[in-house]
Amino acid sequence: MMAERQPFIAGNWKMHKTLAEARTLARDIRQGAAPGRRAEVALAPPYTALAAVAAELAGSGLRLAAQDTFWERQGAFTGAISPAMLADVGCHYVIVGHSERRQHFGDTDATVNRKLTAVVAAGLIPILCVGETQAERAAGQTLQVVRGQLEGGLGALKPASGSALVVAYEPVWAIGTGLTATPGQAQTVHHFIRSLLREFLGPAAEEIRLQYGGSVTPDNAAILLAQPDIDGALVGGASLKPELFLPIIAAAG
Ligand code: PGA
Repeated sequence: MMAERQPFIAGNWKMHKTLAEARTLARDIRQGAAPGRRAEVALAPPYTALAAVAAELAGSGLRLAAQDTFWERQGAFTGAISPAMLADVGCHYVIVGHSERRQHFGDTDATVNRKLTAVVAAGLIPILCVGETQAERAAGQTLQVVRGQLEGGLGALKPASGSALVVAYEPVWAIGTGLTATPGQAQTVHHFIRSLLREFLGPAAEEIRLQYGGSVTPDNAAILLAQPDIDGALVGGASLKPELFLPIIAAAG
């Protein structure tokens, strides 16, 4: 069964942009994104700029996303932000399990699962990130690693429908390095992820959007997005510049 999946391009701004810079970037993207575009677009600014970017995007159809969250609803958790707070500020999506969170902040498949579950419970849509390191790829462990992260991240979670979950395949060696998985390498893993989702979640797997991430640029976006199981892109560096991000949105149709 072939499902029609709307392409989904998300910009992960990471730890970049002051308030003034974030407003300008959001405005430029809003103005530059063609109204008749096929792709859904989301921007993930740092927490400090969420409210300001929400105001810039109001009424545009562009979505707001957060880069991370904590699983508790509220309480004595200094420094943490809950999914309910993210919903309140206008977020639609939450990135969970980004490799930089796993590498620098101790996120594990178990904590990723708690976050994912809390995000879904708050009525938001998680973008679950998975991907192997260079050493794991070299050792032939790519599919095994991705399977473990997907299985551990999802746990017992059963999204109500395929539109309630997004998965991003981001090979760690391709993030911020200028190295990109070849379309063939990416499609192989995306196809594998969809087959796992079918195994875990049944027919909803056909509707789940799978993004590729890792040095996506205007030069490689079209060929990556043309792969049958690549439904979008999670863009880091190139999402900080309208002259790079807008052509990536356009490449999605
Ligand atoms: P990059 O980052 O596009 O700068 O490689 C992607 C990501 O980390 O989501």
